[in-house]
This record gives sequence, C-alpha cells and structure tokens, in this order.
Amino acid sequence: MTGDNRTPVTVIGMGSMGRALAGAFIDAGHPTTVWNRTPGKAAALVAKGAVEAETLEAAVAASPLVITCLTTFEDTRRALDPAGAALSGRALVTLNSGSPADARETDAWATVHGTRFLAGAVKNVPSAVGARDTLLYYSGDKTVFDEYGTTLRVLGGDTVHLGDEADLAALYEMAVGAMLLPALVGFFHGAATVQARGLEVSSMVRFAGKWLDMIKSLLPVYAAEIDSGDYSDAASSVNLFIAGESHDEELAEETNVETAWLAPLYDLVKRAADAGHGEHSVAALTEMLRKPERTA
Ligand SMILES: NC(=O)c1ccc[n+]([C@@H]2O[C@H](COP(=O)([O-])OP(=O)(O)OC[C@H]3O[C@@H](n4cnc5c(N)ncnc54)[C@H](OP(=O)(O)O)[C@@H]3O)[C@@H](O)[C@H]2O)c1
Repeated sequence: MTGDNRTPVTVIGMGSMGRALAGAFIDAGHPTTVWNRTPGKAAALVAKGAVEAETLEAAVAASPLVITCLTTFEDTRRALDPAGAALSGRALVTLNSGSPADARETDAWATVHGTRFLAGAVKNVPSAVGARDTLLYYSGDKTVFDEYGTTLRVLGGDTVHLGDEADLAALYEMAVGAMLLPALVGFFHGAATVQARGLEVSSMVRFAGKWLDMIKSLLPVYAAEIDSGDYSDAASSVNLFIAGESHDEELAEETNVETAWLAPLYDLVKRAADAGHGEHSVAALTEMLRKPERTA
C-alpha cells in the first residue's frame, strides 16, 4: 500500500507500544518517521518502510502529526523540550499512561510551545494496536481530533474523544484501569486454589470468563445505583458479601492459599454494614471509598 494521500506521522518512543503504533501506521500506508532515544530499536520498522530520523528535531519536523509514546508525561516534556521550536504549529498526541494532573501540566507546556495538544491513552496491549475493537481515549484540542481522526483510527477502531479538557483521557484511563489489579489478583487467587488440588489452571479459564461476563452485565445496574445514590433495590446485598468471608477462610485453611489481600476488602464491606448499608446493594461500597471533603 502506498502512502501518497495519507497524513505523514512521526512516532517518538520505540518501546513495545511505540513500535506497535508505528507498525500500524506503516501497515496503513502512512509515511512514518520514527525516533528513539536509544538507537537500534526501530530496525524492523525501517525494514518495513519507516524513516528513522537522525535527530529528535528532524523527527518532529518531518510530520504535521507527532505522536509520542514514552514512559511518562514528564519523560515526554523533558525529551521534547530541546525540539520545542520545531513543535510550534504542529499537532502533538501523547499516548502514555499518567495522571490527570500530569496531563494538565503537559497541556500547559504544549500551549507555551505553540502546539495543539491531544492527550491519548491506549486501553490495550501492543499486539491489539490496529484492531477494529481496540479502544483509545483522547481528550484535549478537538480540532486535532477532527483533523486527524481518520489517521488516529488506524491505531484502533474504538477511538473516542472525551472532551476538550486534556486530562479526561488520563482520568478515564485510570478510573477504568483501577479494575485491573484486583481482577487479576482475584484470578491468580483462584488459580492457586485450583492448583492446590493438583488441577490445571487452564481448566478454570472458561468458567472465569463467564464470571467476568456476569460482572460486566452488572456494571450498568451498579452505575445507575451509584449515580442515583439509591442502593435500596439490592440484588446482592453488602451482608451477602460479609457471609462470604468465612467460606474464604475455610477454603484458605484447606488449600493453604494466602488470603491477606482480601482483608482490606472485607474491612470495606464491614465498614459499609456498620454505616447502615448491610441490606443495601453492594454498590454502596462506593460510599465508603469517598473520603470526606478536604478543608482548606
Ligand atoms: N506495553 C503495554 O502493554 C502498554 C499498554 C498500554 C499503555 N502503555 C503505556 O505506553 C507507554 C509506553 O509503554 P511501553 O510498553 O512502550 O514502554 P517501554 O517498552 O518501556 O518503552 C519506553 C519508551 O520510552 C522511552 N523513554 C523513557 N523515558 C525517556 C526519556 N526521558 N527520554 C526519552 N525517551 C524516554 C524509552 O526510550 P529508550 O529506549 O531510550 O529507553 C522507550 O522508547 C507507557 O506510558 C505505558 O504505560 C503500555
């Protein structure tokens, strides 16, 4: 495929995600310039047609659309600072993880450099880049999204602009990402339990998948309860989860599987019951996660 009519793109940062992003642009026929602090990581992309710029300034100057995929926002600002003049008038899209505050700081930094800025986040692994259902969030300057939306959709078909505030993508990325570690540790806990009986963990994968489907089906219900603050129609009450603790302890005794990670979760559940939410929906745990307003 030739890239004659396609937007030239520069990708800065040739880590595992940056290489996947650049690879998707090359596959889609975009003239693609790449740069990495440590040389030698772009060889496979150059073999596929990418141009490896000799300097960061040359990389930035090569394309109207500059995409960075460094480890953090701070790394990004620090790395791009020397190329600040070249950035002026271009569109900058960051695709790293980071906090909303750091996204705001980068937005202010981009404004100083005369750069239109879109903060993005890839909500998937590098091998999923370019797939039709891969989700990428963006927030910030809508003119960049409108101008380059077709190009950005090369990275994933489920491409969303969340709003003009540059920190929204980071906020949603972190809010949704909060589920990852507890869900994975839960799976690893189950895996250790099954192994303790001499069974293959792969034997539980289908059932764990259905469990996740069930949890997914409940999310709109819980979201509505949390949004309304009405937890009275409890399909699964807080007290039901309290009852589960003794079963977990019994099983842990039998299997010798560590359960310390569950203690703070049960503490949360008990505090919710103590606060009068025992017969309420388990979504009322959200009320326990809100800290009191800070006083100035
Ligand atoms: N990999 C994933 O599964 C995944 C999924 C979703 C989101 N992300 C996010 O994508 C971002 C990149 O992840 P990755 O997996 O590609 O990381 P990685 O493989 O560790 O690569 C990090 C990249 O950042 C560059 N870098 C870091 N600090 C720098 C600095 N101060 N100046 C210049 N370059 C710097 C590194 O350059 P050198 O080669 O010179 O060290 C490298 O190109 C992260 O924010 C990550 O959270 C990753």
